[in-house]
Amino acid sequence: RRLLLVNGPNLNLLGIREPDVYGHETLADVEALVTATAADAGFEVRAVQSNHEGVLIDAIHAARTDCAGIVINPAGLTHTSVSLRDALSGVALPVAEVHISDVRTREAFRHHSYVADVAVVHVIGQGVPGYAEATRLLLDQIGA
Ligand code: DQA
Repeated sequence: RRLLLVNGPNLNLLGIREPDVYGHETLADVEALVTATAADAGFEVRAVQSNHEGVLIDAIHAARTDCAGIVINPAGLTHTSVSLRDALSGVALPVAEVHISDVRTREAFRHHSYVADVAVVHVIGQGVPGYAEATRLLLDQIGA
């Protein structure tokens, strides 16, 4: 049993990028946290981060046949990408949407998420620990 963890554009810079907004933990820390959380329920994790929308869409398509759910921080694509949303609804896997920062209290252009209504779990503004919470809630949905 496996989960797909997807991190969108610029999240490779976690720890370096705007640490006042996103904190000091790195993408490797995020991937280790989700991997450990999933392992508690006997799940493996396949992690992908890309700055290229199509790479993320391909990874979501590939998950259709061998993953039980998707934890995703779509980053900036949250607010722009119909195609990413369509990929998520197309594969029909349960989705957990994570945002490190509280997008609801930031700029107006971050208030709308194209992913929100295709996700069953939303964890917003809880920092990097929010990925663990999202993973646990997703595993609950899957019945793990
Ligand atoms: C983010 C919030 C987005 O608005 C932003 O574009 C990101 C990260 C977050 O995790 O807080 O890149 O998804």
